[in-house]
Amino acid sequence: MIDYQDLIAGLHQLGAQQSTLKQSSLTRWAEQLPEQIAEQLSLQRWGDLPQWQQSLAQLPALTPSSCDFKNAVRIGQAGDCSEPQRQALRAALMELHPWRKGPYQLFGLDIDTEWRSDWKWQRLLPHIAPLQDRLVLDIGCGNGYHCWRMLGEGAKRVIGIDPSPRFVHQFYALKSFTRKLDPDNLPIEEPPVDVLPLGIEHLPNELKAFDTVFSMGVLYHRRSPIDHLLELKACLKNGGQLVLETLVIEGDEGQVLVPEGRYAKMRNVWYIPSPPTLLSWLRKCGFKAPRLVDVCDTSATEQRSTEWMHFESLPDFLDPDDSTRTLEGHPAPRRAVFIAEC
Ligand SMILES: C[S@@+](CC[C@H](N)C(=O)[O-])C[C@H]1O[C@@H](n2cnc3c(N)ncnc32)[C@H](O)[C@@H]1O
Repeated sequence: MIDYQDLIAGLHQLGAQQSTLKQSSLTRWAEQLPEQIAEQLSLQRWGDLPQWQQSLAQLPALTPSSCDFKNAVRIGQAGDCSEPQRQALRAALMELHPWRKGPYQLFGLDIDTEWRSDWKWQRLLPHIAPLQDRLVLDIGCGNGYHCWRMLGEGAKRVIGIDPSPRFVHQFYALKSFTRKLDPDNLPIEEPPVDVLPLGIEHLPNELKAFDTVFSMGVLYHRRSPIDHLLELKACLKNGGQLVLETLVIEGDEGQVLVPEGRYAKMRNVWYIPSPPTLLSWLRKCGFKAPRLVDVCDTSATEQRSTEWMHFESLPDFLDPDDSTRTLEGHPAPRRAVFIAEC
């Protein structure tokens, strides 16, 4: 079972600082969370839940001699565990296949994930407000790769949300090695980073609590992009920063691709705007100083099948005769990072 006690206590504490006069938005959320979590992680919803829980239970007991979340996501060193323990670790983690976001280094085991998520992080990090002491929300965080990197930049607390419970279990498989335990194996200290099994639609209205909100790889999955932007704004404090990463097309203001069928084999892609269009949407939603800070074509070295993700990947989604086009004839994936203040 995943233990959210530390997060809930942390939210109550932050809520008390947020407002002493009336019940704060974070306190309200902390009170709703146990029920929301139980609903989202129920056996009725997810038949595979026992298998994921079993894989967490099978992780060997290991203590890392050091961790690094600033330059990579590395927990422990090869010398912290024996070869049989590393094999047991590998087998338990493979039960949680597919591993899409990463890479991770765990006690000398390299988890070579489908995505080089570290490349996205390197592209955006120079442009964002320093995360030191900030309260950070990562919406659609997958297995939480970037949440660890946000912690590595000194965030006060990081909360990721993602509706996929498999990814949530991947996150807690890693987090289980970062808790400090007392002699009875009870946690006495844990890093202030968590991933909740929730979609953005489960967040309370008007949280207005976070210093930085990330939405990366989510906007094109939403049926109403403007509503998504307004929901992101409602999570931010006055003066807080939005970091938005999404698929874009080349083009002028007003241009947007709404693929009628699939896009790169994905069924749930709704709106892919040009950068000037997205900037105008951000202005329309009341964001201040929206700016485009990075544009990059996705390459088959950044997204590909690996032994940790052996389903199809980018090379299978592109036209074999023209890699600038998807199989359906749309422009191939190009991603951009936007920053704006609230
Ligand atoms: C393309 S991945 C991006 C993961 C990560 N943010 C990154 O940039 O590498 C999109 C993620 O959004 C999540 N997602 C889908 N619907 C969502 C929703 N309604 N609210 C929040 N996240 C959602 C998916 O489960 C998936 O992990």
